[in-house]
Amino acid sequence: MAFPPRFLDELRHRVSLAEIVGRRVKLIRRGREYTGLCPFHTEKTPSFSVVEDKGFYHCFGCGAHGDVIGFVMQTENLAFPEAVEQLARQVGLEVPKATPEERQRAERAATLQGTMEAACAFFETQLRAPEGRVAREYLASRGLDDAAIKRFRLGYAPDGRDALKRALGSKVPEPLLIETGLIHQGDDGRAPFDYFRHRVIFPIGDRGGRIIAFGGRVIGDGQPKYLNSPETPLFAKGRTLYGWAAARAAAAKSETAIVVEGYMDVIALQRAGFGTAVAPLGTALTESQIEELWRLAPEPILCFDGDAAGQRAAARALDRAMPLLKPGHSLRFAILPKGDDPDTLIARQGWKTMHSILEGAVPFAEMLLRIEQTSASPGRQTPEQRADFRSKLKARIAQIADATVQKEYSDFIFEKLARMETPPSGRRIPPRVGGRRIAPARRSMPRRPFLGAADWLGLEPIRAPDPESQLPVLGEVLLAYLLNHPFLLAEAAEELAQIDFPAAGKLDSLSHKILELHQRNPALDAETLKGHLTREGFGPAVERILSPRVLEFARFARGEADVESVRSGWIDIKRRYEQQCLLTQIAEAERNLAVDTNEETLARLRHLQEMLYASQAKDDDASGDLS
Ligand code: UTP
Ligand code: MN
Repeated sequence: MAFPPRFLDELRHRVSLAEIVGRRVKLIRRGREYTGLCPFHTEKTPSFSVVEDKGFYHCFGCGAHGDVIGFVMQTENLAFPEAVEQLARQVGLEVPKATPEERQRAERAATLQGTMEAACAFFETQLRAPEGRVAREYLASRGLDDAAIKRFRLGYAPDGRDALKRALGSKVPEPLLIETGLIHQGDDGRAPFDYFRHRVIFPIGDRGGRIIAFGGRVIGDGQPKYLNSPETPLFAKGRTLYGWAAARAAAAKSETAIVVEGYMDVIALQRAGFGTAVAPLGTALTESQIEELWRLAPEPILCFDGDAAGQRAAARALDRAMPLLKPGHSLRFAILPKGDDPDTLIARQGWKTMHSILEGAVPFAEMLLRIEQTSASPGRQTPEQRADFRSKLKARIAQIADATVQKEYSDFIFEKLARMETPPSGRRIPPRVGGRRIAPARRSMPRRPFLGAADWLGLEPIRAPDPESQLPVLGEVLLAYLLNHPFLLAEAAEELAQIDFPAAGKLDSLSHKILELHQRNPALDAETLKGHLTREGFGPAVERILSPRVLEFARFARGEADVESVRSGWIDIKRRYEQQCLLTQIAEAERNLAVDTNEETLARLRHLQEMLYASQAKDDDASGDLS
């Protein structure tokens, strides 16, 4: 939903940026500004500044910049509307709703949600009351202290038929209690009674952390071990993940999301510092949960027990996710020692063991191969058996909906199979014309020997460079920036000297000439610069570069662009140029490798790949010219 601009202005006006920032960063006042250590990069001396009356922050170290909404989006990892809603809630500003229906639905949800909140507070109080003693003891026996009880808002639903109903009944009408699933009508014809009785209560939050359901655990043994709220207008089990809101906030800092089975596992992990742990509510992961997980991290790690049931669960999750895989989005699988879940593992062995198990998580493609190999019957010895196995694999891979991912899987898996089936003495990197592989181990995929194939990550397929390189036009854009905004020369002369421009179209000699002119007169303005260049015979090149054909794509290179846009646009273009150069060099190295496989080319390719990844890691999708 689009928010009316007047509402957003009002919101920015009402919240204090310094206060919001001050919750995360220790700020020191300096006149009209505040300074502190930047929350977006690691630093020892403060280069982060908040200009309260202008409503923006800026980091002179890393260039982070934005207003209060941006700050909340960044630090809490929220989408724009979510950040707006959160801020509006904090200052008691009502978020305008577009249509009457929307307004009505929102009001209804607020009422239902208020009921859940009241119930949650009731359960929390009951846990602290004398009636809650057994529950308190139970939680203590499971290692949960007061801080954890508060943090996860654990509670106790008292024994008896209608403790909650009596406690809330005076404030909340019965139909609301029924609609929220807090009480229900038995078939004995008697009055509706409490749904949760004599259970430890785990409140379940929505994306914003508002309570929408509960899970109740028996104290000690008994059946069912966990009881979850029924589906209600607030609560769709298949779309909800326990621990989501906290995980979302933690995901702003951490890279991987962790998926476990149970409430207690999420709590144990989050307490141990794995802030991005979440759990589905007692069922296999649904498609919508997988999509949600990808909002936390590109490759969430699913944890499974090491027993047969865990393996079946892993296979099910793989089946479910297979069609959904898309470029850059996958899942990994961590297998726990038999007999442990994350809760007991952390309790017995501590953070470190859990951490190394997560580090060793198996990539999706490898898991697929592993599962198919274990289930291949009767074997893979004879040509017929091998053919059978291959066609089964093909059918599996065909389930991937995204064509690019499907293609990469096919290449990857069959190449890997081929390598595994060659005797070790004959092992050699298979050259392939137009091949594109050999990438350094990426941060997100820890290197692990597995299935006897130590080079699993050594040969990761990468994106093929565009056959028609964008280099010349990017070079023209770079020069257009300099011609229209020579102040960049003073800021970037050194980098500029290091850029290799294509010889085509005189770009190379033009850039040299520009540098030379700048050296002679650092205060050169755009008109004077162009004048000099024209006199030296570069008139046609300058004209071509400043033609609409080039500037159409590069708004910020135009003469009228403001200084900030020019600077950020320039940085962006320079990075793209650098990446394009690397891609071109990579393509060349790959061609060489296909002709002659040797260590040297391989090493060079890896090096180029690493540089490319490092550069891509700096990409900031928010800004960008040439889009
Ligand atoms: P587990 O049986 O593994 O429970 O079920 P757990 O989380 O380890 O529980 P503790 O440690 O014994 O307290 C995993 C998850 O499956 C759902 C719950 O969400 C639980 O956390 N579940 C389990 C149910 O919904 N109902 C049940 O009867 C059992
Ligand atoms: Mn458990």
